[in-house]
Amino acid sequence: MVKVLVIGGAGYIGSHVVKDLLEKGHQVVVFDNFSTGQEINLFNNAELIKGDILDKTALEMAMSQNIDAVIHMAAKKAVGESMINPGLYADNNITGSINILNAMVQFGVKHIVFSSSAAVYGMPQYLPVDEKHQRNPINFYGYTKMVIEDLLDWYSKLKNINYIALRYFNAVGYAADKSIKGKEKNPQNLLPIIIETATGSRESFQIFGKDYQTADGTCERDYIHVSDLADAHEKSILRLMKDDSSYCLNLGSGRTVSVQQMTDACEKVIGKKLKYQYAPRRFGDPDKLVSQADLAYQILGWKAKYTNIEDIIQTTWNMEL
Ligand code: WQD
Repeated sequence: MVKVLVIGGAGYIGSHVVKDLLEKGHQVVVFDNFSTGQEINLFNNAELIKGDILDKTALEMAMSQNIDAVIHMAAKKAVGESMINPGLYADNNITGSINILNAMVQFGVKHIVFSSSAAVYGMPQYLPVDEKHQRNPINFYGYTKMVIEDLLDWYSKLKNINYIALRYFNAVGYAADKSIKGKEKNPQNLLPIIIETATGSRESFQIFGKDYQTADGTCERDYIHVSDLADAHEKSILRLMKDDSSYCLNLGSGRTVSVQQMTDACEKVIGKKLKYQYAPRRFGDPDKLVSQADLAYQILGWKAKYTNIEDIIQTTWNMEL
């Protein structure tokens, strides 16, 4: 049993991580400022500290509770917004992470799992993308994640902290048992946008580009179920506790689904035709992005259990039923 401080534990991915840790018998302290996290995502058997990572005193209070390890998932994550308001992303993501690391040093907390992103790679130079692929982010959001990875590396060398940075590909789905109740508000990603069209809260959606170098001309992505992501965090904590090394690991399924395939699969799962239009390409989208996630298997014994996109969509659609 490990006592874990989950920063951002009321958010979409954070709440799935908390659920997984509790089910595996760990003790959890959730730290969240509820800017995007939701009260409805909390679990009774996890302790709660309402606080902001820009508030050093709140962080010190959290870190003083005999914490064995930290999972840091508190970040702003809207790519478009990060290009318009980089200061907000620098403050929240970079300064906030520095505050966390300094509080860890102050209280002797030695292990941290960090939510990084495939966004650190930028435009892929080869596929599948492995962890040795150069990091060259093309948006400010991805840049903040890269900077935090570098900070982790320096703190590991200088302050004897060990870390695992988990580079998520496209996170989707919800816990199959519907125990996480809070749907993401104002979603920016493909699957929730399609679901909003199915429920009628949006009239239609757009497929951005159908002239890409892919089998059907629409972009291909590596969608990974959020419960699989959660499982990798618990495995990362256990790994950090028994070994002094640090790692950056891709978390993906290793398979791609195109926007058209996602759309068709949604129509099948939901059982009705959806309204959409083909629109011009969106800036900054690569044709294809797919992970090589063998290192996560080697280091953590982890791989994605959800392999079928319809099963993944079903867990999202279940939230509406
Ligand atoms: C998926 C595909 C769109 C919306 C983003 C971030 C990335 C990571 C995961 C956090 C693309 C297409 C989308 C729509 C569409 N985030 N699309 N119509 O861009 O692959 O990845 O989330 O770490 O950093 O960039 O995800 O869900 O926005 O798009 O056709 O209305 O769906 O063009 O090909 P993306 P997405």
